[in-house]
Amino acid sequence: MKYWHEQSRSCRIYLSAAYLASVPFAVLCFRAPNEFSLKWAMLAVTSIFVATINIRLPNLSAVISMGDVFILLILIRFGPGSALVAYWLNILAAHTAEIFRRHGRNLLRKILIHRWVFNLSCCTFSTWAMYRLYQLVLKLNLPDPIGLVLGLFSIAMGWFFVNTSTLSLALSFWMKRSFWSVWKEGIVLYLLNFLGSAAAAALISLFYERGGFLVFLLCAPIAVVLYELYHFYVQKYEQAEKHIQELNKLYLQTIEVLASAVDAKDRYTHGHIRRVQAYAEKLAVHLGVEGKNQMLAIQAGALLHDIGKIAIPEYILNKPTVLTETEYEKMKIHPVVGANMLSTIEFPYPLVPMVKSHHERWDGNGYPDGLKGEEIPLNARILSLVDCYDALTTNRPYRSPMSREEVIQFFRRESGRAYDPAVVQAFIDHLEEIEAAGKSVVVPTGGIWGINENSSASTGNGRKLEKAQPTLAYSKALIAGPEVQRELYSVFEFARADFQCLRPAEIFSFMGGKLQALVGFDAAVFYEADLTRGVVV
Ligand SMILES: [Fe+2]
Ligand SMILES: [Fe+2]
Repeated sequence: MKYWHEQSRSCRIYLSAAYLASVPFAVLCFRAPNEFSLKWAMLAVTSIFVATINIRLPNLSAVISMGDVFILLILIRFGPGSALVAYWLNILAAHTAEIFRRHGRNLLRKILIHRWVFNLSCCTFSTWAMYRLYQLVLKLNLPDPIGLVLGLFSIAMGWFFVNTSTLSLALSFWMKRSFWSVWKEGIVLYLLNFLGSAAAAALISLFYERGGFLVFLLCAPIAVVLYELYHFYVQKYEQAEKHIQELNKLYLQTIEVLASAVDAKDRYTHGHIRRVQAYAEKLAVHLGVEGKNQMLAIQAGALLHDIGKIAIPEYILNKPTVLTETEYEKMKIHPVVGANMLSTIEFPYPLVPMVKSHHERWDGNGYPDGLKGEEIPLNARILSLVDCYDALTTNRPYRSPMSREEVIQFFRRESGRAYDPAVVQAFIDHLEEIEAAGKSVVVPTGGIWGINENSSASTGNGRKLEKAQPTLAYSKALIAGPEVQRELYSVFEFARADFQCLRPAEIFSFMGGKLQALVGFDAAVFYEADLTRGVVV
């Protein structure tokens, strides 16, 4: 949970509304018949004591408090106002104990007042709802124990719905997730807790009528056993959860090493995959992508989307000018190669379709399958946009990065053509946040080679030259105009080209392209000499 000033505007409005709305309900509770006797005080003190031994539900922002049983008991025996006071004290005691357990004596700095006040407001709503429902059942004049059981059942259900809906709504604002996805999480545990507490309260109430206050002495051992059992289960669950998280981390780290092999091969895109990952994650959250598996697919898919480039000759990948048709055709196989490579691994999340479709276009003119609109998986639609965004905002030798306005204009133009209009809209709406996510990415300067390519020839986000390149005063060249840069790149590309894997036609086309940038011509004729026979072929 964040501090008040870190909350979104909508969240602050919701919290303020809850604070205000709880006041009349508190008044109603206190105006109903209540009893603040010595017995009430003893029960309230017992509930506060028990409330401090609460159990945090794994993965959820809620706790199950053992004090709940006593609150219900106070509600049916002493009235809603008496229950509300005990409930408020319970919440304060439970939260303080929780913070103390986590942060020791530094607890004062960790207290989030707005969260406390919100919880107190929620208690007020649920206490009134429980009281009204209980009153309705009492009016039916059913004989005991049916009346008591039904009354407590209605209390449990009222409590369950009011509590889970107010809390889930707040969590959906805090975590920027849909209400439904938050609400359904842990729903069974909540329901069991509320029903269990109501059943325990019914039992204690029946005993209480017979044995008076001493009956609690009998209940204490049962409560302790139940608490220990539950605690044991929660601990086991947390251990398993921790193990899964560690495995996922290891998985992603392995994937990253694999992916950085491509990142290192493509000299213009250093850090590209990490930035694309950061952008994709942010955009996915704003598009309402939910579920751990979907997010993991996006994290891994962003890293691995260009893994198929391993099959593309380096001279094509690093070509500083526009690709020829043949080169482009070659480049276009990388999504399929990537998908084929990855399909041999059993990923527990939908990663392969994302990699395969990251160059599809919304209008159907993309590749490899020419998928159209929503036929393209959402995560691939997200990836294709952020992939392009990173290319546009990264310094390349043949053009400078686009400004924010130019980026917006570009994607507005391409909305409905290359990209999904909804994805474009979410991207433009949250561009500032997405930009910041990219800036916060730390790219190790040494890369996977462990060499710190420490050159003053920084090209912004672009990759620096490799050690193996010809010694060229590149830093100075970058200060020169783009024409000079292009020529230098052509010389450099020419020098380092590896012709072994190319057919003669490809070699000539490559050489022609490079020479064009250097000398300029309308037509070029190449002769291939057979040196063994001393003839021109
Ligand atoms: Fe790609
Ligand atoms: Fe990419």
